[in-house]
Amino acid sequence: MIKSLFLFFILTSSLFANTLGNENSFITKFEYGKMLYNNPRGIGCIKCHGENAEGKTIVSFTHVYRNKKYNCKLTTPSIKNIDYKTFYSKVNGKDTKKKTFQNDEVCQKLIYKADVMPTYFLVNEEIDAIYYYINNLKDK
Ligand code: HEC
Repeated sequence: MIKSLFLFFILTSSLFANTLGNENSFITKFEYGKMLYNNPRGIGCIKCHGENAEGKTIVSFTHVYRNKKYNCKLTTPSIKNIDYKTFYSKVNGKDTKKKTFQNDEVCQKLIYKADVMPTYFLVNEEIDAIYYYINNLKDK
């Protein structure tokens, strides 16, 4: 009696585990994209671009350059409504265009040089899913 109960337990729990496994492989593209947005291979996009991908201020700081004080703010842009090609090349590549700055654009130049946005090595399917997720997020 005890033995068969035990067997029954093993059977149901393995069945249950199986269903969970199946559900996992059928997660929607939205959920897959969300998972990758929060936790890709590398630091999560969410950390810098915020929960709704609308960008945010990461840090404010003052910088002194030639005896002048500059109040700088490192902000990330919104990454909603970007065309797929730009999105793709930003995530998996580096901009090759060099930017130039005016003398008084001290903060802009400093932040540009810091090259904050990491380069990822994601496959097309992953980038596609993140893109899908971001562009299907409901505005809060
Ligand atoms: C450490 C902070 C950080 C993380 C993490 C990060 N980004 Fe960024 N991202 C930035 C900053 C800063 C910029 C703006 C400066 C630039 O373009 O390099 C940016 C720019 C972008 C742009 C270009 C926006 C435009 O208007 O051209 C895209 C697209 C983007 N990020 C997508 C992503 C995705 C997708 C992820 C996750 C896979 C991610 N980022 C993770 C900081 C980050």
